[in-house]
Amino acid sequence: KKISIVGVPMDLGQIRRGVDMGPSAMRYAGLIEGLKNQGFQVVDYGDITIHRSTNGTNQEQKLRNLQEVIKVSEQLCSELDEAIQKRGFPLVLGGDHSISIGSIAGIAKHYKNLGVIWYDAHADLNTAETSPSGNIHGMPLAINLGLGHKLLTNIGGYSPKVKPENIIIIGARSIDDGERRLIKEKGITVFTMHEIDRRGMTAVMEEAIDYLAKRTDGVHLSFDLDAIDPIYAPGVGTPVFGGVTYRESHLAMELLAESELITSAEFVEVNPILDDKNTTADVAIELVASLLGKQLL
Ligand code: ARG
Ligand code: MN
Ligand code: MN
Ligand code: MN
Repeated sequence: KKISIVGVPMDLGQIRRGVDMGPSAMRYAGLIEGLKNQGFQVVDYGDITIHRSTNGTNQEQKLRNLQEVIKVSEQLCSELDEAIQKRGFPLVLGGDHSISIGSIAGIAKHYKNLGVIWYDAHADLNTAETSPSGNIHGMPLAINLGLGHKLLTNIGGYSPKVKPENIIIIGARSIDDGERRLIKEKGITVFTMHEIDRRGMTAVMEEAIDYLAKRTDGVHLSFDLDAIDPIYAPGVGTPVFGGVTYRESHLAMELLAESELITSAEFVEVNPILDDKNTTADVAIELVASLLGKQLL
């Protein structure tokens, strides 16, 4: 099986520097070698070029770096579109979570009914109107639903990319008021930390897998490393205590591998500057390995 890797050294969706080094951190942790040892044919497309102007064209608070984010999203969208046509499993390395605008734009074209698992401490369902920060990395899931600035929702020339009923959020514990309203209004399924504590990761994942298997023709996994508790994954820009453990996340990936449900994935928000000896990138690549079927025996 072939895997197509695209790195997106993007840090314009938020304000903490260093997350642009995420793709390098995951490569240095041994991602490519590991996947080759697992028996995959790996095609590494390298990193997308991102021009960060020192002036920043849009530092106006509501949609920070809007023009640059649009440019990168369009580029990532066409790169993934092409990667999929060459029949590789697309694996995208972030970069902050705003990259999901471009990746899902490129991927959703190929499915009638794409499902999305959003593994994250946050819901990323803000718009310029509800965002407390103006940071676009807090908005990609809303944009993929067709909600937000037209230039962002129309990346790839179509909108929306995903239906609300095809989305499952897992691990959430920091949800803004506007996001909470949207979750209720659109009926989006969210397994918060409460459900994970109460029912256990196995039950949560089995329900998520069952549900998506019945109604979708492909599922994209969007894995924000801040879903994991900062004890295990400290190198993220917006850490939130009380997260999913390393073991639970590992188990979640193994259950996904067993289900053969996932058709594309991205791992985002790895920030080596905030990290402890590249621990977060190490965690990320172990989770990738499990997602792609690595077993102990
Ligand atoms: N909800 C907050 C905001 O809109 C935090 C978002 C964090 N998102 C992320 N992908 N880490 O700014
Ligand atoms: Mn997050
Ligand atoms: Mn996120
Ligand atoms: Mn394992």
